[in-house]
Amino acid sequence: MADAQARIEELRREAEAAAAAAASAAELEELRVRYLGRKAELTGILRGIAELPAEERGPVGKAGNEARETLERLLEGRRAELEAAELEQGLTTDTVDVTLPGTPAVPVGSRSLLIRTMREIEDVFLGLGYRVMEGPEVELDYYNFTALNHPPGHPARMAQDTFYVDPRSLDPELRIEPAPTSPGEEVAGPALPPGPEDVMLRTHTSPMQVRAMETQKPPIFIVVPGRCYRSDPFDATHSPMFHQVEGLAVAESITLADLKGTLDEFARALFGSERKTRFRPGFFPFTEPSVEVDVSCFRCGGSGELVDGSRDSICKGTGWIEILGSGMVDPNVFGFVEANGYDAERVQGFAFGMGIERIAMLKHGVPDLRKFFENDVRVLEQFR
Ligand code: PHE
Repeated sequence: MADAQARIEELRREAEAAAAAAASAAELEELRVRYLGRKAELTGILRGIAELPAEERGPVGKAGNEARETLERLLEGRRAELEAAELEQGLTTDTVDVTLPGTPAVPVGSRSLLIRTMREIEDVFLGLGYRVMEGPEVELDYYNFTALNHPPGHPARMAQDTFYVDPRSLDPELRIEPAPTSPGEEVAGPALPPGPEDVMLRTHTSPMQVRAMETQKPPIFIVVPGRCYRSDPFDATHSPMFHQVEGLAVAESITLADLKGTLDEFARALFGSERKTRFRPGFFPFTEPSVEVDVSCFRCGGSGELVDGSRDSICKGTGWIEILGSGMVDPNVFGFVEANGYDAERVQGFAFGMGIERIAMLKHGVPDLRKFFENDVRVLEQFR
């Protein structure tokens, strides 16, 4: 009797020590089989009770069953502990965050630097109370030139030579019919210059000034981002396709001082207080007076010279880069939208148009505008 009980006690201690040392649920399962399984020694002892002398059966059975239950509870407890630890370990070391969307086969791209710059500019003006509007890139001459005070044949049209589109390719609803010629009249001489009914890729975002005023009575405060086109060369500072943001503010009491304050605020918000701005007199047919706004050159810092004494090619040695044209809306432009409440005797306002490429180049030190359109991954990856 003493032998069997002592052996049970020994087995229990052995199993307890082994369970405490087990490092995984799998090891515990092995221990369960070894100490409590069908072929385990303890199972054998319990199975052999009937063969023991009568007086030993009770105490050995009791000790055996107690040991069995104790071990079962212990193994179960340790298994739960180990499984919890294993789960915890997995959660902290696994790099998979199940709350993220699945990994796409191709890495996701990022927003282009130009679009980001555009949104940044929009944000500055949204903060000043402006609304964002967009308009067509294929535009009528009427909006691009005529209603912006460039009558047919006006020399300022030449400065923004562009790409024309066959008007017959437009939806008839969108076309403007040319002024009728009297029957039998022969058109002699060279072809007529482009007129309001002609269709073109817009050369600037300014046509939206007129479109916006046609749809909204004063006061109006809008910015218009978008693509523009000109038959320009493709070099470090020009591209036949480029981006602008137009601004228009019209109300009863807007003055040139408001324009200056607004543009100063814009330059500080975008370029930081260390950049300087300069206002020069300019000319646009649709603003009077007109001003050109320059920002001090990011590369030479405004000196026009590089460290080695050579002329800075970006600002052409002037120390300034033109970023913006603007001015007070010409009363002749209001004349085209007078019916919608734009009485030049009662309202006035300012407009401006800036090139996004130039602004992005300034902000990020991009030395060549072509970098925006070449899609060189080494460039794109710098602006993630
Ligand atoms: N549309 C002009 C340009 O592209 C810029 C401009 C906009 C000037 C609004 C005055 C007012 O050069």
